[in-house]
Amino acid sequence: MCGIVGYIGNKEAYPVLINGLKRLEYRGYDSAGIAIINGDTRIYKCKGKVSDLETFVKNKDVSGSIGMGHTRWATHGEPNNVNAHPHKSQYGHFVVIHNGIIENYSRLKTKLEKRGYTFKSQTDTEILANLIEYIYLKGKVSGEIAVRLALTKVIGTYGLIVSCKEEQNQLIAARNGSPLVVGIGKKEYYIASDATPIVEYTNSVIYLNDNDVAIIKKDELTIKTIHNDKQIPKIQTLDLDIGEIEKGGFDHFMLKEIFEQPKAILDTFRGRMSANKTDIYLGGLYNVLPKLVEAKRIIIIGCGTSWHAGLVGEYLIEEYAKIPVEVEYASEFRYRKPIIYKDDIIIAISQSGETADTLAAIKLAQESGAIVLGICNVVGSSIPRLTDAGVYTHAGPEIGVASTKAFTSQVTILTMMAMLLGKKRNVLSQEEYKNLIAELTKTPDKIALILKHCENIKNIAAKYKDATNFLYLGRGYFFPVALEGALKLKEISYIHAEGYPAAEMKHGPIALIDEKMPVVVIATKDKSYEKIVSNIQEIKARKGVVIAVVTEGDTVIKNLADHVIEIPDSDQALAPLLTVVPLQLLSYYIAVMRGCNVDQPRNLAKSVTVE
Ligand code: F6R
Repeated sequence: MCGIVGYIGNKEAYPVLINGLKRLEYRGYDSAGIAIINGDTRIYKCKGKVSDLETFVKNKDVSGSIGMGHTRWATHGEPNNVNAHPHKSQYGHFVVIHNGIIENYSRLKTKLEKRGYTFKSQTDTEILANLIEYIYLKGKVSGEIAVRLALTKVIGTYGLIVSCKEEQNQLIAARNGSPLVVGIGKKEYYIASDATPIVEYTNSVIYLNDNDVAIIKKDELTIKTIHNDKQIPKIQTLDLDIGEIEKGGFDHFMLKEIFEQPKAILDTFRGRMSANKTDIYLGGLYNVLPKLVEAKRIIIIGCGTSWHAGLVGEYLIEEYAKIPVEVEYASEFRYRKPIIYKDDIIIAISQSGETADTLAAIKLAQESGAIVLGICNVVGSSIPRLTDAGVYTHAGPEIGVASTKAFTSQVTILTMMAMLLGKKRNVLSQEEYKNLIAELTKTPDKIALILKHCENIKNIAAKYKDATNFLYLGRGYFFPVALEGALKLKEISYIHAEGYPAAEMKHGPIALIDEKMPVVVIATKDKSYEKIVSNIQEIKARKGVVIAVVTEGDTVIKNLADHVIEIPDSDQALAPLLTVVPLQLLSYYIAVMRGCNVDQPRNLAKSVTVE
């Protein structure tokens, strides 16, 4: 969602801001803007892409070594030039950029209106800028105090940067529920909503905590809480390489990330298996492992693709460890009245570690005294900081909005957890455990083989790129994969698609099938193979088009289906890691052929930090 970048130091701010905004494009946005502070404050902003902003500022004065930039994903007010950030307060004392949502904006607005404030935009951010200014002028306090006092009156989430006209040598940054990172250079500081705009300049960073306010001068950084308690900054080293956030010769980040999956899975194993690959160590769970082994119930929460990974986790944990598992959309879980027992274990899955609904669901679970574990990709993000223990996926930065390598890495961790618990609970014998580990370690090579045959998938994509609907079917472990395949297609190609358990087809979706309906069926050789063959026959009997993902060498389905995509033979429980890959590629090629913006699909954001 919205992105923030700020700079204060000795070099020109503009290139840092514009490059930073480009790095943040992946988060999803609909307008962009910058403010350069240099005697006066110059604000340039417009609807559209960062490249539109670049065109807009051409030949305008962007000189100055202090500034802030923002990409906006509309919440309050439509995407247009006025609603784009930065926002200036009525009398020009403050300029603000803001991520998050001010929930009590309406009450604050009414109060300010009574005091003579009028508003140009429909944003909650402009209200905040004016609230700060009102407190500043009325209380005759410093900019910093005005910001802190204003924030005590705000209900909601924010990551923000503020500049005060009379205190131009500093930027003030604050966080509550919307991440901010401060990068430390030599007599210079960078501020951003994630590390991607910072990594090319420094790898020394401080992640702000909720309620922190950072007062940043070019040679001095002070961090306090909004209540004026001084904080000791914890400097961390970024483990992020600039190459990881560039396309590296691929046309799109999504394609790069699909092709990175063998490595992402290897990186996820790395250091978590004994040298002879007969045992699994999940260091992040060490302290909670005894409780996890004894768990009466596990509840997995997540959104979107992470929820799909959770469904695979349910099948894995119930099969290998025989612990009952429930999987819930975080957005539903948090708003109903779920029964959570103290001895439940909650596993929150999130690529970004910042998804607002997942964060809120975690807080709810923690109130009930349950242990909450995280499976996250972004190091230092909010979920790993909030949870009691957890495991990072180590997939590397995922820039494409459609999640690909994060999914397979999440499933890898869940597979490892299920195996480890199965062994510790004596459900799996040493022999079975060892064999499964050996099988899992073969996965990266098998994915590499699937990727080698991407031309076949491209040809299938060319045939069905103009379809208006798709159906995805799978049984057992492949039902979540069907859901994931359908989600990928919807997100990036805007083709309507539905994922269904294959056996459910006859209870409704079969009515949709005709010669115009491509049906993607995951039909690998496993215990429900015969049943899925029958499902394919049912589709063919109704003239549906079948694209089947099959185990290599399969001849039965080859004779039935219109197209087959072969994957290497594998244990059924490990095959979601393989079967999802052709579905990712199919969506990718279809979206490219339809001329869609694959990496930044319309209306979508990479980390959904609003409810
Ligand atoms: C799908 C996708 C989204 C995310 C969802 C959760 O391709 O990217 O559905 O999976 O928004 O995001 P995280 O995993 O960051 O919590």
